Amino acid sequence: MFARSAARSLATPARNFSSSAARQSKVTVLGAGGGIGQPLSLLLKLNPYVTELSLYDIRGAPGVAADVSHVDTKSEVHGYPADKLDQALEGTDVVVIPAGVPRKPGMTRDDLFNTNASIVRDLAAAIARVAPKAKVLVISNPVNSTVPIVSAVFEKAGVYDPAHIFGVTTLDVVRAQRFLAGVAGTDPKDTPVTVVGGHSGATIVPLLSQTPHGKGVTGEVYKKLVHRIQFGGDEVVQAKDGAGSATLSMAYAGARFTGDLLRAINGEKGVVTPTFVKSPLFADQGIDFFSSNVELGPNGVAKIHPLGQLSKEEEELLAACLPELKKNIEKGKKFVQQS
Ligand code: NAI
Repeated sequence: MFARSAARSLATPARNFSSSAARQSKVTVLGAGGGIGQPLSLLLKLNPYVTELSLYDIRGAPGVAADVSHVDTKSEVHGYPADKLDQALEGTDVVVIPAGVPRKPGMTRDDLFNTNASIVRDLAAAIARVAPKAKVLVISNPVNSTVPIVSAVFEKAGVYDPAHIFGVTTLDVVRAQRFLAGVAGTDPKDTPVTVVGGHSGATIVPLLSQTPHGKGVTGEVYKKLVHRIQFGGDEVVQAKDGAGSATLSMAYAGARFTGDLLRAINGEKGVVTPTFVKSPLFADQGIDFFSSNVELGPNGVAKIHPLGQLSKEEEELLAACLPELKKNIEKGKKFVQQS
């Protein structure tokens, strides 16, 4: 499922869903001038389901828009400076948010909370006001808290539809696929992995036992692989040595998830991918946001899949994930309550 969708969702519609049959989709990127925003905007320009691409940032978006607009695909591109947020959002169907500060070496994603929480809250308030029916895809970290923040802002504004708000955890899936393929000696496209939980360290839970290539991985190799999937982002942060975190692989992952959603919005059935959403799976434990496989549809979330059978090791990973995830979610909710 993921293997097929991976390559396709960036640029090419599925068979029987030609771009000429696609409905109009305006996609807005908030934070389009940044390390993720720029390559993400480029990749979205290549997606035939995107008819209008609206690029906003407090710095540099008109320049990025002028540049990307010369790429020879059909969509119209518009760039908006800091004081034109409402115009950027008008009539938009999908909003992707990579606005905010990235990590530096030694930082956790939670260390970004103080800066990014208010950026995301204020952007969410504008979306709730100008484009309340838009699907909102949150990339800004800490995703475990920023998705509850966007949801709480929409709730406060009286326009909350849980089916419309997504935390983009696709980079964890991309890494799991790539790293498992390296261990198993396979092609990543034939090595899909479901990753559940949240999007930070111990909250990232790869379900390797559910894949043909993953279930044979045991012992030290298994432990190292899980650690690399959970903390792969640190490799990039360290290698960039203060210049930021993953931007190019994240742009790919963001474009892949946006592409999946656009295919589903345009009527394709059976588009299933992990994403962090309002979820009933652990709500009885006070954890009402969770990432698991989600079937996407024209209205966003169509069906939340259960986790399926877990190995003993995965049960342990999940037990470590849940308390941390709960704290992250509560922190986000509290922030909006106190705002
Ligand atoms: P960056 O610093 O290169 O770019 C961020 C952009 O956001 C800048 O252009 C900045 O001007 C803009 N910005 C700041 N405040 C804004 C506002 N109020 N409205 C609009 N734009 C605003 O950072 P980068 O590397 O692009 O990362 C962005 C975010 O994505 C960070 O929070 C980072 O932690 C997160 N991230 C998430 C990942 C995921 O898997 N979900 C993976 C990697 C990064």
